Amino acid sequence: MGETITFLGLESSCDDTAAAVVRLRGGRAEILSSVVSSQTELHAAFGGVVPEIAARAHVEKLDLCVEQALAEAGLSLRDVDGISVTAGPGLIGGVMAGVMCAKGLAIGSGKPLVGVNHLAGHALTPRLTDGLAFPYLMLLVSGGHCQFLLAEGPERFRRLGGTIDDAPGEAFDKTAKLLGLPQPGGPSVERAARQGDAGRFDFPRPLMDRPGCDMSFSGLKTALLRARDAAVAEAGGLTERDRDDLCAGFQRAVAEVLAGKARRALKIAFGQEIEGGDIRTPPVHPPYTAAVQNDGWRPMLAVAGGVAANGEIRAALEAVAAEAGAGFLAPPLRLCTDNAAMIAWAGIERFLAGARDGMDLAARPRWPLDDTAAPMLGAGKRGAKA
Ligand code: KG4
Ligand code: ZN
Repeated sequence: MGETITFLGLESSCDDTAAAVVRLRGGRAEILSSVVSSQTELHAAFGGVVPEIAARAHVEKLDLCVEQALAEAGLSLRDVDGISVTAGPGLIGGVMAGVMCAKGLAIGSGKPLVGVNHLAGHALTPRLTDGLAFPYLMLLVSGGHCQFLLAEGPERFRRLGGTIDDAPGEAFDKTAKLLGLPQPGGPSVERAARQGDAGRFDFPRPLMDRPGCDMSFSGLKTALLRARDAAVAEAGGLTERDRDDLCAGFQRAVAEVLAGKARRALKIAFGQEIEGGDIRTPPVHPPYTAAVQNDGWRPMLAVAGGVAANGEIRAALEAVAAEAGAGFLAPPLRLCTDNAAMIAWAGIERFLAGARDGMDLAARPRWPLDDTAAPMLGAGKRGAKA
């Protein structure tokens, strides 16, 4: 329990350049620093992330973020026990920039290098923030990701289902664009939806009639476009009221699909416990997880990703978890969205499990967490979905 491990983590797989220092001491994880430099403004004029611009900005910003993260932690590179970096999935130019930077730091300092899957970073965040015990169900829901993962170990994830096309954040962003609301779309659609009547427009609930927990969100965007055009054709324009009602209807549809699929995912993951009303103790813990605070175990639904900030969606998921007798956990928003603290933490978890990478660590545009799950189709504006 007394083991103290400090890691520097680097993240550059999409449009945030980030570096962070995380320490595990006395069984508790502590974020010593977490620096995130957003590129939102650089891409604003293009209506999406431009991979070449992103990669160049990462190259320029990585060193500065690392320096700042170490300075804020009051440490130098000598003081860390290892360096971890997002090695995929993501926009390849950005991932390469991060991997090269981390290799340089590792060679220069002689510290171990650990490559981390970005999705594992998100999925392990509840362990960084709350020391959550394995296994738990994770819904990753952001602008680029949407999947249910059963986290069974730092490198053991079972993918129970995911989107077959757009991620919900992407759908929120497109909705905002279609209605002339500012980007990022999530917060502005949520704001408009607060005044709206969710029952006025009839939005589909895609794939709810199919078993399992795969999802689809691209049809919702088409439905929104049609409803908008019908309202415009009828009244010659779109009133604020129409806009609010459209946002409310769309948001309700996303919330209900996520909640409905979460109900199924909980059943697939923990059916035995939920139905029997009998909660078993977790199966096998890797020995070091004892170092993380765990007070018992019960089925848990955790969320991560920018869309988890949405009040209606969060409430719907929380209700489903409660109904199933499961707990619900949503890490603070700054740790739900892309950051390097989760990469530093995932690095510590892999390091403790014995993982070390060499100078041949590859940057991977696609890297599914669960090799046994069928690959997902489609690649949205935020790059490949793994
Ligand atoms: O996790 P994130 O910061 O980045 C990645 O996509 O990797 O998520 C950003 C996404 C955007 O699409 C944004 O519109 C969405 O999360 N988002 C929201 C809300 N806040 C952010 N979606 C719905 N409701 C929100 N309040
Ligand atoms: Zn992410």
